Amino acid sequence: MTSTRERIAALKNDRKAVILAHNYCLPEVQDIADHVGDSLGLSIIASGTDADAIVFCGVTFMAESAKILNPKKKVIIPEEYAACPMASMCTAEQIRDARKCHKDACVVGYVNSTASSKAEMDVCCTSSNAVDIVSSVKEKDVIFVPDMNLGAYVASKVPSKNIIPWNGYCPIHQSITEKNIADLREGHPDAVVIAHPECRTDVLNIADAVCSTEKMIAYAKASDKKEFIMATEIGMKHRLTKECPGKRFYFIDHAICSVMKMTSLSSILKALETMSPEISIDDDTMERAKEPLIKMTEVK
Ligand code: 13P
Ligand code: SF4
Repeated sequence: MTSTRERIAALKNDRKAVILAHNYCLPEVQDIADHVGDSLGLSIIASGTDADAIVFCGVTFMAESAKILNPKKKVIIPEEYAACPMASMCTAEQIRDARKCHKDACVVGYVNSTASSKAEMDVCCTSSNAVDIVSSVKEKDVIFVPDMNLGAYVASKVPSKNIIPWNGYCPIHQSITEKNIADLREGHPDAVVIAHPECRTDVLNIADAVCSTEKMIAYAKASDKKEFIMATEIGMKHRLTKECPGKRFYFIDHAICSVMKMTSLSSILKALETMSPEISIDDDTMERAKEPLIKMTEVK
């Protein structure tokens, strides 16, 4: 009897599809993907793929970004309700209202946002290039949406800008506390602390490195240290342990993103069989969201 993995591989070939998975996906999903990466890396791959279809294992804003960046491709999201809660913390209407209050400001938007919000932004960014993107805009005032923690981190790195913060956040990273890190440090006093910039400022202040998910892997690989405390989502353990043999990684037990865990091998198989659910975005939103997203992919 053919296994689910074999059926996925065969159907993927028939459909000329590429499977992309975020670093927080389940290990078995990462293992069958053609590419695993962070939001920026996956957006760049999606924008340049010559596959006929993109199966996006992750959350809806990632699949929407792939569609906007490569509109001729069929973009399939195996779990259509896998929506990042932070993306709903900033609506298009709220951005329009904020612009009225800050007439000279530009809007830099974290990619963890809906397509309709992106259509209101001047430029998008990811955790990997937020500092460089904000540094590159000509305006002094920057409305940074929707992540208050990433916004505060960028403000600390680019003091020449006046960052007008939003009050969105990632519930998973927000739940990681200084005490969680201190507790892990007690058992592993020599461990290096690596944090995602969606963490709270007090956590970032005690971290040795602040990185996007992909840069965390590069950092751990390059480090001569053997132990790492990871202030991020637990899905990172899979690649870190695989790609950094002999190194140990300690996570905060409760740091689990349930929407990232929704995509399973069976939902990918079903998606390939039915070529659905397909991402569909209205033409006006597609058109207006494209430029901010393209600018994002141009800053590595
Ligand atoms: P990265 O772009 O660093 O992978 O982050 C995406 C995300 O959703 C983190 O919570
Ligand atoms: Fe959204 Fe947080 Fe999950 Fe990332 S970890 S997808 S920001 S809820």
